[in-house]
Amino acid sequence: MTNPAPTQDQLKALVAEAALAHVPSGQVIGVGTGSTVDLFIDALAARVAAGSLVAAGAVSSSERSTQRLQRHGIAVVEASTVERLPVYVDGADEIDHQGHMIKGGGAALTREKIVADLAERFVCIADGSKLVEVLGRYPLPVEVVAMAVPQLVRRFAALGGRAVLRAGVLTDNGHPLLDVHGLSIHDPAAMEAEINQWPGVVTVGIFARHRAQVCLLGTLQGVRTLVF
Ligand code: A5P
Repeated sequence: MTNPAPTQDQLKALVAEAALAHVPSGQVIGVGTGSTVDLFIDALAARVAAGSLVAAGAVSSSERSTQRLQRHGIAVVEASTVERLPVYVDGADEIDHQGHMIKGGGAALTREKIVADLAERFVCIADGSKLVEVLGRYPLPVEVVAMAVPQLVRRFAALGGRAVLRAGVLTDNGHPLLDVHGLSIHDPAAMEAEINQWPGVVTVGIFARHRAQVCLLGTLQGVRTLVF
C-alpha cells in the first residue's frame, strides 16, 4: 500500500521543523506570523523543552505570535530594544524564484517588515504551492491610512489593479487593509518603491528590498531549499 500524499499542513510542519537548523542557540531571533509560523513556534518550543536549543527570546511580528510564544514560555523582546537579529523566520503568501515575496495575508505586514529590517537573514518557510513565476495572483495586501482609501483605490486602478477593502479587519496598528487583485508584478522592487511613495500607504506587502535569503519549501519530495 502506498502512503497517502502529505497534506498542506504536514508540508508546513515539515518546513517549520527544518527552519530550526537556521536558529542559532542562545540568541534572540525574529518570528513572523501565520499558520506556518505557528508550527515553527511549536517546533522551537519543543526543541527548547528537549534541551537541545537555548531560547534567548524572540521579537514577534504580531499579537498572535506573541501570545503563542508566551504560552510556550519563550520571552518576547521589544523590537525597539534590539539593533540586529541573526535571523527572521516567516511565511509568505507568494514567493518567486528570486526570493521576492507577497506578504500580509495575515494582516501583519508592517510589523513583519520592521522585524525583517532588523534581521541579517530572512528564512522563508512555506508549502510548495507558494512558489510562483510572477507575483500577483495572490491579492496584494496594503496597509493604509483610512482617509486615503478612495485615492489609493484610484491609483491601483491606474496600475490595472482592483483594490478591495478587507472587510472587518484592522491591523495590530489600527489601520485598514486593501487587497489588490489583478496585478502582475514583474519588477517587484520597482513596484514596491513606487507604491511606497503614495501618501496614505503605511506598508505595501511586496517584500523585495526585504526579500528572503533562504526559502524552505515543503514539497511532496520533502524540503526543497532555495538560496537567493
Ligand atoms: C502574515 O501577515 C503573512 O505575511 C504570512 O506570512 C502569510 O500570510 C503566510 O501565512 P501562512 O503560513 O498561514 O500561509
